[in-house]
Amino acid sequence: MRSGIEGVQFMGVRDVGVLQHGLMMVTFFLLFFVGSRAYLKGKGGSSSKTKNRRLGGPGQYFLGPIMNVLALSNTKTTIKVLERWCRAYGPVFRVNFGPKSVIFLNSPEYLQVLFMSRSGLCGRMGSLFPRERNGDVAGNCWTSTCSPYKTLLSYMRIFNDESNQIVHTLEKNDSREGVDVTSLLSGAILNSITKATVGKSIENCESKEPGDVGIAELVHRVKEVNTKRILSPWLLYEPIWRFHPLSKIGDFLVNMTMKQLSFALSPSKQKGNNVSLKEDLLGAGVPVEGIMEETSTLLSAGYETTECALQFLLFMLALHPHHQEKCREEIDSVFVDPFDDDLQYRDLSKLKHLEMCVFETLRLFPIVFLIIRKPKTPIRLADDLEIPAGTEIALFMPGVHKNPEIYPNPEEFRPERFSPEESQHRHTYAYIPFSAGSRKCIGFKFAIMELMCVTAKLLRHFVISTTDKLEDVVILPYITLSLEKPINFGFEKRIPSSKPQH
Ligand code: HEM
Repeated sequence: MRSGIEGVQFMGVRDVGVLQHGLMMVTFFLLFFVGSRAYLKGKGGSSSKTKNRRLGGPGQYFLGPIMNVLALSNTKTTIKVLERWCRAYGPVFRVNFGPKSVIFLNSPEYLQVLFMSRSGLCGRMGSLFPRERNGDVAGNCWTSTCSPYKTLLSYMRIFNDESNQIVHTLEKNDSREGVDVTSLLSGAILNSITKATVGKSIENCESKEPGDVGIAELVHRVKEVNTKRILSPWLLYEPIWRFHPLSKIGDFLVNMTMKQLSFALSPSKQKGNNVSLKEDLLGAGVPVEGIMEETSTLLSAGYETTECALQFLLFMLALHPHHQEKCREEIDSVFVDPFDDDLQYRDLSKLKHLEMCVFETLRLFPIVFLIIRKPKTPIRLADDLEIPAGTEIALFMPGVHKNPEIYPNPEEFRPERFSPEESQHRHTYAYIPFSAGSRKCIGFKFAIMELMCVTAKLLRHFVISTTDKLEDVVILPYITLSLEKPINFGFEKRIPSSKPQH
């Protein structure tokens, strides 16, 4: 049976074929028009021109803005192209991108000025409800209503349960090579987040009527639609967007999301987790719409980010058996009883090498790789460099994380970079996988705890290997860094050991 989403896609392609042809013509003329406008903007005379200094950047010639759109349009190479631009144009440069003109900042010093400025307005990317937030930080209710210690302990219970489930399933399979572990990991991560937010596992959160789409697929599809829209900037114009077949799919996704969220928040027969965002917010008198918005934000911001990070972390450990073994020794040493397999919250602070591996993975693969800020007031970065209010500023994290002056041999996986000795002289804003300042990710602690707990349990029970090579892996820019194909992991069973502590 075709799901609702396929139905929408099919209908869109069949009915809008002729219209699409017309749209292509209109788009071509529009591109030509906006291309020349953006070129002139870059040359000067525009409101977004920086004072004094003229910024360099790719495609600073007539039709350059169109060439930049084309350069980024192949999603298999978008990240590589952006990295090349950062290497070529340095800490600050301008990209005229179709009708848009965006300033890229890549130096910790400039980022510090930006993050510390109180004038940031942020475009909200990848949310289930794609729209702009006006300065307020999403997820605030979560942080402000939860009692931190009680909440952290309840998360540890959830992470332990989900990790045990993964270990159990892999043990049953007894597979040594070529396990596609993606759905297993993503199921566990999604379960953790639904248990933490609405107090139920995912299977009790979804309506399964004919034509319904599940929450995991909704998150993937919303990211896909948003990415296509961002990489074709003319689609950001509402009148063009409304005629485009993708907007029908977008509408369908929003309606389906509302349906699934209402279902997830409805009372269920399952004995729920009594420490959840929903319970906390209900207790604090937050109205249903508010709870729905918070849940939607946390689901879209917390699910795929952590899932992708976990895949990259396991991949790095599989490619570097030496670091895997160091983590394993450390993990075995925190278990006193060989039959007690649960990690306590306090144990996490003893897993120093594993924590450094997590940090190094997020340096190489900053999952939310690009964030946009739009300051409400001008931002002065240097005596001859002021960014006018309303300019779109892009923070492309690999531009900082792979700067060889900050991280020598930046492509190398070397967790020791995050040892206290090596980190102490590094600029605070040289490492920003969770962003920084007033809009820093509110789920960073949740994510790090979960990554460490799941990985520790896996390393305790298995030796992880892979048949994939880093250079063959294609990473797509779907709002978050996403793998084109799942990694092929092998899990070889081992007998967990324990070291009685004196
Ligand atoms: C490895 C995992 C994660 C990474 C790399 C990550 C990264 C980020 C980054 C860079 C931002 C800032 C975006 C911006 O400034 O525009 C952000 C925002 C946010 N994150 Fe995370 N995050 C992760 C996991 C989580 C988790 C587990 C949760 C919740 C349980 C979460 C909830 C949020 C929320 C609510 C926001 C604000 C979104 C908004 O304002 O629209 N994140 N995250």
